[in-house]
Amino acid sequence: MRLEGYTRNLVDEGNEKFNLMILCWGEGHGSSIHDHTNSHCFMKLLQGQLKETLFDWPDRKSHGDMVQKSQRVLQESKVAYINDSIGLHRVENVSHTECAVSLHLYSPPFETCQTFDQRTGHKNTVKMTFWSKYGEKTPFTTVSQENN
Ligand SMILES: [Fe+2]
Repeated sequence: MRLEGYTRNLVDEGNEKFNLMILCWGEGHGSSIHDHTNSHCFMKLLQGQLKETLFDWPDRKSHGDMVQKSQRVLQESKVAYINDSIGLHRVENVSHTECAVSLHLYSPPFETCQTFDQRTGHKNTVKMTFWSKYGEKTPFTTVSQENN
């Protein structure tokens, strides 16, 4: 079973030019399938491994399962890149014993993204929240279910 529940921790807002954040993934934690709101997304593995699954954007005519394009395991210290022209992705820590930590740079920064239901392609707009900002816990106590 895939559990959501990783945390998003804002490190720097880059004078409103980018968002730099650290994501902490417990065992089995994963994101929804999501887009990147016309931004550039760089992701570096600081600890552990993350599985990235790429999907095509669902088109209006398609029904049923979204098309899976590729899958890879990102190893520690490796950097990945995605934007909306490459497609959508899901990121998961599939390990049952190790947590994972990743550093994410989004430029320009964005506050909402879209998540997609793998079985139908239906999308939802979700607002992103931070578990902490600059090392201080935010009022948002829920863990992330959206993204990145
Ligand atoms: Fe992402």
